[in-house]
Amino acid sequence: MTTKQEKGCTLWFTGLPCSGKSTLAELLAAELKRRGRGVEIMDGDEVRKHLTKGLGFSREDRDENIRRIGYVCRLLSRNGAIAIAAAISPFRAIRDEVRAAHEAAFIEIFVDTPLEVCIQRDVKGMYKKAIAGEMKNFTGISDPYEPPENPEIVVHTAKENARQSAAQILTALEHRGLLAAAVTPSYTEEEAEKIRRRLTDLGYIEK
Ligand code: ADX
Repeated sequence: MTTKQEKGCTLWFTGLPCSGKSTLAELLAAELKRRGRGVEIMDGDEVRKHLTKGLGFSREDRDENIRRIGYVCRLLSRNGAIAIAAAISPFRAIRDEVRAAHEAAFIEIFVDTPLEVCIQRDVKGMYKKAIAGEMKNFTGISDPYEPPENPEIVVHTAKENARQSAAQILTALEHRGLLAAAVTPSYTEEEAEKIRRRLTDLGYIEK
């Protein structure tokens, strides 16, 4: 039996700090792995500890950060993996540059969460500091964020929960032929084991 080679792709999340990029990336990665796909997450916070260590938050440094993340995503995706980028990636031009360099499909996912909601979430207390003027060049407050003009997917994390947003993305990938439709078993693993034992007892399957 021959198995059809599944196409790799890059899922490129972009959005304000605290918009939900990392949460969605983690949820998606878990589900994609469950479905047997090779997945890597390139998360801005994490990548800045090694691959892009030493880079700051000027436009030049952010662009360099994105360029490097984009390069790794490009290599992974053209070899059948699903590369997931979760960085603010606030500037349109560099996102488009990374897209243009891709051989595999590049799926831009705009995490469209209103600034007020991100400020309320303020997971690391950075918005508070930025608003108080204690942090310069903070995206959304004192540094620009350029939303994508034609993203393949838009999710609204303020109106739906993370599971719903992730499900929407999975469906979009299935429709684009980048992911095989999930085969959800209609019975539990325990029930399956019971069936296996019964069939073994009946001699239909070997022990
Ligand atoms: S990007 O602009 O280069 O894409 P990236 O996603 O890698 O940013 O890093 C964003 C993370 O860096 C945020 O989650 C936050 O924890 C931290 N950070 C520190 N300073 C800033 C800043 N000035 N603007 C935005 N995020 C910052």
